Amino acid sequence: MAKVLIIGAGGVGQVVAHACAGVPEVFGEIVLASRTLAKCEAIAADVRRRTGREISLRQVDADRVPEVVELLRATKPDLVINVALPYQDLSIMDACLERGVHYLDTANYEPPDTARFEYSWQWAYRERFEKRGLMALLGSGFDPGVTNVFTAWIAKHALDELHTLDIVDVNGGDHGKPFATNFNPEINIREVTAPCRHWEEGAFRETPAMSLRSPFVCPEDVGKYTIYRMYHEELESLTRNFPHLRRAQFWMSFSENYLKHLEVLQNTGMTGIDPVPFQGMEIVPLQFLKAVLPEPSSLGGNTHGKTCIGVIARGMREGKERRVYVYNICDHQEAYRRVGSQAISYTTGVPAMIGALMMLQGEWMKPGVWNLEEFDPDPFMAALNVHGLPWTVQDPARVADPEADPAADGA
Ligand SMILES: NC(=O)c1ccc[n+]([C@@H]2O[C@H](COP(=O)([O-])OP(=O)(O)OC[C@H]3O[C@@H](n4cnc5c(N)ncnc54)[C@H](OP(=O)(O)O)[C@@H]3O)[C@@H](O)[C@H]2O)c1
Repeated sequence: MAKVLIIGAGGVGQVVAHACAGVPEVFGEIVLASRTLAKCEAIAADVRRRTGREISLRQVDADRVPEVVELLRATKPDLVINVALPYQDLSIMDACLERGVHYLDTANYEPPDTARFEYSWQWAYRERFEKRGLMALLGSGFDPGVTNVFTAWIAKHALDELHTLDIVDVNGGDHGKPFATNFNPEINIREVTAPCRHWEEGAFRETPAMSLRSPFVCPEDVGKYTIYRMYHEELESLTRNFPHLRRAQFWMSFSENYLKHLEVLQNTGMTGIDPVPFQGMEIVPLQFLKAVLPEPSSLGGNTHGKTCIGVIARGMREGKERRVYVYNICDHQEAYRRVGSQAISYTTGVPAMIGALMMLQGEWMKPGVWNLEEFDPDPFMAALNVHGLPWTVQDPARVADPEADPAADGA
């Protein structure tokens, strides 16, 4: 049995704590640490109520390497699951190297002062982790995370040659608020306001944010949504690990209401990340905005509807063109009933636990710094079905990729 340290007690941390508590045969001891101890206490009380398990708690500022090193020295975990913010990735990796602890996260490092999304900083740790005999698994949420595993599964089982990828993330949920984000507002808004990049014929092409949209009909009863092409971090590792891809794109659904609010906030400067002077001090507008928006972890009880996230791939199978769509549908209220969180946190936290499971059980244990598609997808795919994120492969005759839809609309 292993000891795991979860850093970050937000919406995703809540789910990771519950998910690990549900697998006591692997996660024998759980420590939860975050900046605000009261949030750790609330999660621990909820886990105790639902599962009867005790979690140890610690306060830490994970921006400070010495504090994280001290936390690792005092708690001696086998693995850190980092579900704080992307800003803390490097400081936690540094501390893991110093104390000899394996590492996992769900989002790539971003410097606080520039919204640059790339793995370069974390991939630069590969040799150091390898030499130390330690493993770091990057991006073990849903997207990135499960979408990387879906792609690896398609490449292994469904297509002989992979030509195009369309990752489609639809959130058909309604939280009843005029404007809120489903995960950390600062990280979410930095991501959706960044210029779009997609992979085409050997290079990333940049287009203005939200400038291409398409209607998309989700399978089963999830409904029809408008999806927008945007940059997402798994495109970087997938195009590197599947170098024959001719095109790779990421799409996400947004409601008219969300986009209307975002436009006003952008036009008024509230999404800016450069400090502005205010009453004798400096404040970052986006950080102030985060402070007045609802906490994503508070949305669970009132969020209704479903998410539908999956990968549509085109390529060749036994000499014929074929399209494949692998997806998961997750119900917000069902997620809330299970772990007290809406489906966005749930679909991130459960794969973080599964990634940890893969490492601790030795299925994926390999020194170095890795993305999920670099491992055998089969045990992870099996675990998704067991731990509450079942997946489906759509009948190939019914798969429509976004760009091929006759109603696709370049706005
Ligand atoms: N791959 C995916 O599919 C996916 C999807 C959604 C989210 N994510 C990632 O998941 C992570 C967590 O998201 P979330 O929605 O749970 O965010 P959240 O609700 O804002 O929670 C973040 C938590 O990290 C803590 N934290 C922030 N800075 C810290 C520091 N310096 N030291 C210690 N703790 C610190 C926060 O503490 P306070 O409470 O004191 O602020 C909070 O408890 C983010 O990195 C996000 O990008 C990944």
